[in-house]
Amino acid sequence: MSTSVAVIGTGYVGLTTGACLAHLGHRVTCADIDAAKVAALAEARVPFYEPGLAELVREGVAAGRLRFVLGGAAAVDGADLVFLCVPTPQADDGSADLSYVEAAAGSIAATLRPGAVVVNKSTVPVGSASVVERIIARDDVTVVSNPEFLREGSAVADFLRPDRVIIGTESAEAGRRVAALYHSIDAPVLITDPASAETIKYAANAFLATKISFVNAIAAVCEAVGADIGDVIRGIGSDRRIGPDFLRPGPGWGGSCFPKDTRALVSIAEQGGYDFRLLRGVIASNAEQHDRMVAKVRQALGGSLRGATVAAWGLAFKAGTDDVRDSPAVAIIDVLLAEGATVRAYDPQAVIARQGLVQVGSALAACEGADALVVLTEWSEFLGADLDGVATRLRTPVVVDTRNVLDPPAAAAAGLTLLGVGR
Ligand SMILES: NC(=O)c1ccc[n+]([C@@H]2O[C@H](COP(=O)([O-])OP(=O)(O)OC[C@H]3O[C@@H](n4cnc5c(N)ncnc54)[C@H](O)[C@@H]3O)[C@@H](O)[C@H]2O)c1
Repeated sequence: MSTSVAVIGTGYVGLTTGACLAHLGHRVTCADIDAAKVAALAEARVPFYEPGLAELVREGVAAGRLRFVLGGAAAVDGADLVFLCVPTPQADDGSADLSYVEAAAGSIAATLRPGAVVVNKSTVPVGSASVVERIIARDDVTVVSNPEFLREGSAVADFLRPDRVIIGTESAEAGRRVAALYHSIDAPVLITDPASAETIKYAANAFLATKISFVNAIAAVCEAVGADIGDVIRGIGSDRRIGPDFLRPGPGWGGSCFPKDTRALVSIAEQGGYDFRLLRGVIASNAEQHDRMVAKVRQALGGSLRGATVAAWGLAFKAGTDDVRDSPAVAIIDVLLAEGATVRAYDPQAVIARQGLVQVGSALAACEGADALVVLTEWSEFLGADLDGVATRLRTPVVVDTRNVLDPPAAAAAGLTLLGVGR
C-alpha cells in the first residue's frame, strides 16, 4: 500500500528516510529550509557522502515518487504521515536543544491534513512528543515517536534492514499506521509508550558509547600489563553475553550523535533527580582517550610537537562518511596544531579547513616529508596501504595507529616503528 509521506529535514536521517520510503513505494515529499540543498536534491544531487543514497534519490525522483520543496508548510498538505528529522544539537548546559524541532513543528501546524500523524524521528528527550503536540495544537493530529538507529556510512542498509522498529504512542491506531509504513521491512516492531521509545534511543547510544569506552580502558590496561587487546577482544567477544561487535579500541567515540546524546541523557537523568555517574565517567574517559592518543604522537616525536610535521590519515569520525561533526580525528588534530605541529591530512571523503593544516589528495602524499604518521580513521584503503611507500616518504619512520588497522609484521618489514592501541 502506497502512503503519502512528508519528511521535514533532509540531512543524513531525513534524506535516508525519504529516499528509502520512496524506494519502498510510498509517495514522499521532503522539505528543508536550506534552499541550496533543496535545489541540489531536486536535481537528484546529494550534498553529502552516504553510500547508496544518491542512487535511491535518483530512482525516487525519476519514478516521480520523491520530490523536494522549500520549507515544511509546502510539504505536508497532502501527507498522511509527517516525519520530523531536524537536528537536536547540544545546548550550552548539555541538554538537547529542541528549537529546531519546535520550529519545524510550528511550520507545519496550520497545513497538516486532518487525521495526519506527525512522527518524531529526531532524537529528543523524554516528553518531547507532548512538546510537539502543544506546538501543533490540533485535536485532529496525533504525534508519535519513532526513533532512528541508522549509522552513517551504512544508513541505507540500516534503514531497510533494521534490527528493530520502535514506535512510541498512546494511540493504537496511529501506531498501526506508522507500523504499516514499514510492512515490507523484515524487522520486529516494538510499540511502546512515547517516554519509553524516547528513552530506548538514548539508552542504546549510551550503551554503545560505554562499550567503546570500556574496550578503550581495557586497551590501556593491556598496555600497562603487557597484554594484547586483539587477543583479549577475541577472548571476551566469544562470550555470547558480551558479543564481538563494537569492541574495537580507537581514538575515542565521536560523531554527530554519541557526544550530544550521552550528555543529553546525563541531563535528562539529572532533571529527574538521578545522578548518572556511570555515564559521566564514560564521557570523561572518552576525553582521556583523545589525550592518550595525542600523548602517543608526542612520544613518537620524541616528546614535543612544536615545529613537527605530522601526516594524518583520516578526518571523518569513522569510515564510510564525510561527517566530521565531533570527530575524534579532528579533535586530536586540533591539539596537534595547538601544540605547534603542522599537519598534512588525507581523507577519502571528508574536508576540513584549519590554519596549519594542508589537505592532500592521497595517503602517500600526506607522508611526504612528515616526521610521523598518525592513523585516525579506519578507512579500508588504509588497511592495504603501501607501507614501503610510507617509509620512504616519512622523515622518521614512525607511525601511531589509533585504529589498529595496520598490520604489525608488515609495518616492521617496511622498517616502520608502529605504535598501536592496547598492544
Ligand atoms: N546522523 C545520524 O547518524 C543519526 C542517527 C540517528 C538519529 N539521528 C538524529 O536525527 C536527527 C537529525 O540528524 P541528522 O544527522 O540527519 O541532521 P543533519 O544536520 O544532517 O540534517 C538536518 C536537516 O534539517 C534541516 N532543517 C533544520 N530545521 C528545519 C526546518 N524547520 N524545516 C526543514 N528542515 C530543517 C537542516 O537544514 C538539515 O538539512 C537528530 O536528532 C539526530 O540526533 C541522527
